[in-house]
Amino acid sequence: MSIPCDILVFGGTGDLALRKLLPALYQLYRQNRLHNAVRIIALARQPLSRRDYLKRVERHGRAQIAPADFDDELWRRFCARLDYFAMDAAQGADFVRLARYLGEPGGLTRIFYLATAPSLFASIAGHLRLAGLADPEARIVLEKPIGHSLASAQAINHAIGAVFEESQVFRIDHYLGKETVQNLMALRFANALLEPVWRNAQVDHVQISVCETLGVENRGAYYDRAGATRDMLQNHLLQLLCLVAMEPPAQFEAEAVRDEKVKILRALRPLGDQDVQDQTVRGQYSAGRIGGQEVPAYYFEKDVDHDSDTETFVAVQAHIENWRWAGVPFYLRTGKRMARRSSQIVIQFKPVPHALFASEQVNQLLIRLQPEERISLRMMTKRPGKGMHLAPVDLDLNLAQAFGHTRRWDAYERLLLDILEGDSTLFMRRDEVEAAWAWIDPILKGWEAHFQAPRPYPAGSNGPEQANSLLANQGRQWHD
Ligand code: BG6
Repeated sequence: MSIPCDILVFGGTGDLALRKLLPALYQLYRQNRLHNAVRIIALARQPLSRRDYLKRVERHGRAQIAPADFDDELWRRFCARLDYFAMDAAQGADFVRLARYLGEPGGLTRIFYLATAPSLFASIAGHLRLAGLADPEARIVLEKPIGHSLASAQAINHAIGAVFEESQVFRIDHYLGKETVQNLMALRFANALLEPVWRNAQVDHVQISVCETLGVENRGAYYDRAGATRDMLQNHLLQLLCLVAMEPPAQFEAEAVRDEKVKILRALRPLGDQDVQDQTVRGQYSAGRIGGQEVPAYYFEKDVDHDSDTETFVAVQAHIENWRWAGVPFYLRTGKRMARRSSQIVIQFKPVPHALFASEQVNQLLIRLQPEERISLRMMTKRPGKGMHLAPVDLDLNLAQAFGHTRRWDAYERLLLDILEGDSTLFMRRDEVEAAWAWIDPILKGWEAHFQAPRPYPAGSNGPEQANSLLANQGRQWHD
């Protein structure tokens, strides 16, 4: 059971709060993980009554929560802990009102969850301090993206650091809360078998792909300013890369794990001007078909500029300059409106040193995060019958099958519980966020300097052709 606390959600009427955070808090409540004294207060500008807000929460809750988990009586009791407080996060006077509404902490820890645009983070932290709400027990949770460049991320981190100690700050990357992503650490650090082959002598290259069929939905205004690089590559994909490439930490504990991750980010070879031309591809979807349905081009999406040159796809070849990974390319790719939803990591091993048989002989470890959780190792075997004809067969770890009916936790459930328990292992530390931006900044600047417009790709495809050439030029191909 968690500590007694007030959870204050800034951006309480936003998509994230309604679709993810409140359903996740309900799930924790349902599993008896929330302390009896927990209060949840949603904060936003709209002048809604509590009743109207609860109706909205219920509408989203019913859409998000599996019917078997939605219990009317439990929901009613959960809602009794939930309140709505209308305020403008840009107005200092509203924080004074908020402090009055909350009253004395009286042993309750205050958790401020900033599900807002990052441009508000610094001012909210400042107002919390002035209103006397940022006591040493408080925790602050920041949603990605933290800033839109290295300089803006540093400015946010500096402003937050002026009010809160680093141990009070939880920077969320929800990919770290995903079961399979944590499984990656179990796979690597609990199986002695893999360690000797997890290095450049045996690994040919690594692919990390997060492909979505979704477009920008209702988030056009945000997305058009962000693009795939800031929205996905700077955080989710680089975090996955860290988990694949990091050295084993001495303990499974926040500082030890994050120390190892930051070393990887700092070892990424910076991309110079020419590398940005040669080793990155940016794309934008044009009209196409997804699941038989026609979908419009990106620049016709709601709230998107008709002349937009924001990328909805990015592919990059990265190199980690350390002993373990020298010479091994890491190909990263993410895009919206792709042919199918699939997030996966592929570790492609080198071929056998001397080929005895005619066909290609390579092993490949596939770690599938979405849509299904699966880990499989491709082995070469002999086809039955005469002659030594080989075929690849997968050694499969089907997690859904292995753990049967065990309910899979949503990433936000896991991460919210960690925040309540004060465990920051799965959250990004300040230096990690900045090291990631330090590698991303030259890519964004390189595109800008060369007016590199995104390459069009039809919705429902695997991205622009240039992304295929990125690998094909080196005799490789994406695992689709
Ligand atoms: C979010 C991005 O962080 O991750 C979205 O802002 C993206 O654009 C989403 O769709 C993908 O998350 P998931 O868990 O559906 O893979």
